[in-house]
Order: sequence, then structure tokens, then C-alpha cells
Amino acid sequence: MSERSGHEGVSTAGETVLVTGGAGFIGSAISAGLADKFARVIVLDNLHPQIHPTAERPASLDPRAELVVGDVTDPAAWDALLGTVHPDVVVHLAAETGTGQSLAEATRHASVNVVGTTQLLDALLRHEALPRRIVLTSSRAIYGEGAWRQLSTGATFHPGQRTSETLDRHEWDFPDAEPLAMSAASTSPAPVSVYGATKIAQEYLLSAWARSVGVEPVVVRLQNVYGPGQSLINPYTGIMSLFCRLAKAGRSIPLYEDGAVRRDFVLIDDVARAVVAATQAFEPGGSAIDIGSGEHQTIATAAELIAAHYGAPAPHVTGQYRQGDVRHAWADVSHAKAALDWTPQFGLAEGIDRLATWIDAQPGVTI
Ligand SMILES: NC(=O)c1ccc[n+]([C@@H]2O[C@H](COP(=O)([O-])OP(=O)(O)OC[C@H]3O[C@@H](n4cnc5c(N)ncnc54)[C@H](O)[C@@H]3O)[C@@H](O)[C@H]2O)c1
Repeated sequence: MSERSGHEGVSTAGETVLVTGGAGFIGSAISAGLADKFARVIVLDNLHPQIHPTAERPASLDPRAELVVGDVTDPAAWDALLGTVHPDVVVHLAAETGTGQSLAEATRHASVNVVGTTQLLDALLRHEALPRRIVLTSSRAIYGEGAWRQLSTGATFHPGQRTSETLDRHEWDFPDAEPLAMSAASTSPAPVSVYGATKIAQEYLLSAWARSVGVEPVVVRLQNVYGPGQSLINPYTGIMSLFCRLAKAGRSIPLYEDGAVRRDFVLIDDVARAVVAATQAFEPGGSAIDIGSGEHQTIATAAELIAAHYGAPAPHVTGQYRQGDVRHAWADVSHAKAALDWTPQFGLAEGIDRLATWIDAQPGVTI
């Protein structure tokens, strides 16, 4: 029988947590925190070659985590696992995560992110293995360009997707308007990438299914996560690790658009604490929880800090743009602070220092 204890919620000490995609960047980072809180941590991961070129167990995965190699889209993998284990909590991380890549590989992204989620839900019912809670790591990508305020009228509006015509004219911002923080309470989903569309589909599927069968859905929407452990070989994700590798090689970092694109770079340590807290919090409420650093910077600022760290030449603006990228993104973390009793602890300069220190300790890092 579970016990409730204040903000810590139910005691999970005797429970089993299943983490899909748990051998990746975020999964490895939460593995120790989960192993401290749960009796068993089981990871289901297919060791995707884009992230795990040698298909070996990552050294950063806590030794207490039991790794099962399997694909979330494969019903046989689910049958083998749930035939022996009924998790109390599921953390669903497994996903294809390339925002730009998703435009050219929509089927692959939908297959893993959407069908992989429905295979999980079907398997839990098929094996009468309903967990108490499912935590889904969604993304700020579900908001697309988010909500903006019209300067002349003060009215809030959702501008929708920027067009190739305006981007070709280098009209990066929406005229007479300023962007607002992304918040589940006030920002409508309006993804502008296939990846973002698959992440909101995951949210809708989980929410509809979980409420129907009596499972607690908890959705955390993450901003740009970075830090030690991030893939150094996946060319489709991880702008901060790419910037570090370019600067380390003595190159000037190229900046898309005019360099004034704003992002909320949140260090993996802060994200890991938030995701672990999401497995614990008692009644986190029905609304998705936005996770960010509590700050936002231009990519030029981030690149300048990285260039300075490595003594590399100053970054340069290219004027190029990428379909699926949004202009500005940052989170309002007030709900996360209240719901998870959590506060981001790391600013950008310290986070970059930690990332660069980790990269410098990795053998054979190349661009
Ligand atoms: N890193 C970020 O900035 C960020 C931001 C927002 C949301 N998220 C979300 O967080 C989750 C984890 O992201 P991450 O940064 O750790 O990514 P990652 O690529 O480092 O890890 C994903 C893991 O999932 C595994 N995987 C991929 N396809 C699979 C499949 N079909 N079956 C089983 N395992 C599979 C991979 O092998 C990998 O270990 C994703 O759902 C992602 O959408 C990440």
C-alpha cells in the first residue's frame, strides 16, 4: 500500500518504474535519481544507432537500472517485458527527436513517437498492467511560434507559422509584436514542425487514454535541454554541443537568422530533478508542466560565451534559416515550481562551463 507524504507524494520506495528511451541523454541523467526513489528501474531502449553507434550500454546509465533492449513500436517487445513486469510508474522518453530531420522523415518520427506511444498504451491494457502514473516528456515544440502581444493594441495573438516568403525577405519577427513566455495555461498548441506535431499527438493520446482507464497522466514540456551526456554524434539535435565542438576546433560559430533567435537553455541537471519530481509529486494537476531555466538568451549570447570559453573567433551571422525552427521560445516556470516543488538552479554561464568541461574530457570529439 502506498503512503502519501506531503509534496513528495506517494512513497515509491517499493515500486517499479519503467523508462522507455531510458538509455538516452535524459534517461541516463534521471537513472540515479529514480534508482534512489524506486525499488526497481527498468529501461526499455532500442539503442538507436543515431545515438548509440556501438549499441553498448551507456556508462552514464546508473548500474542499478536494468536495461532491456527493445523497440517501443514492436508489440512483441512489449509482450516479452510486460509478461514479467507490471510497472507502477512509466516514464515515456523514447522518441525520434530531430526537429529539422522530421520534415524529411515524417513517417519515422510518427512511427516511433505516435505509434510507439499507442503500442505502449495497448500493451499495458493487453497485459492488465495499468501503472499508477505515466510521465511523458513533451516539448516546447508543441507551441510552435507561441503567443505574441501586439504592441499597438496590447492584444495577445498566436501568429502561426512563419512563411518561406517572409523568411526569404529576412523578416524574422512578427511586425509590431513581442513574444510571450510559453505557458500551458495561456499558450495554445500550434506546432510548426512534424516533430512538434508528433509530440502534441503523444500528449493528446496519453491524456485521452489515461483518463479513460484511470491512470494519472503527467506531461512535462521541456525547453532546450543541454549539458554533459548530450549526444556528440547526433547531427540533428543539440545546438549547444555543436557550438562547443565548433569553437573547440577553433571555428567561428555560424548563427542562423540574425543571431537574435531566443531560447531557454535548461541544464540537464535541472531537467533531471524535474522529471524525477514528476514521478513523485502528489496530484500534479491536469495541466502540462513547462520546464525551463527561468531565463532566456539569444543564440548569439550563448555562442559568444562558448567562443570565449574556447578562445575561438567571434560567432558570425549567416542569415540562413531552417524550416521548423521557431523565432523565440522560453517557458513560464511558475506552475512547475508550485506543482513539483522545483526550482531551476543553473544559469547559462555555469551550464556552458559544465558542458565544455565534460566535452573536453571525452576522447576523440570531432565536429
Ligand atoms: N533533449 C531535449 O532538448 C528535449 C527537449 C524537449 C523534449 N525532449 C523529449 O525528451 C525525450 C528524451 O529526449 P533525449 O534528449 O533524452 O533524447 P535521446 O535521443 O538522447 O534519447 C532517446 C532514447 O530513446 C531511444 N529510442 C529511440 N527510438 C526508440 C524506439 N523506437 N524504441 C525504444 N527506444 C528508442 C534511443 O535509443 C535513445 O536512447 C524525448 O521524448 C524528447 O522528445 C527532449
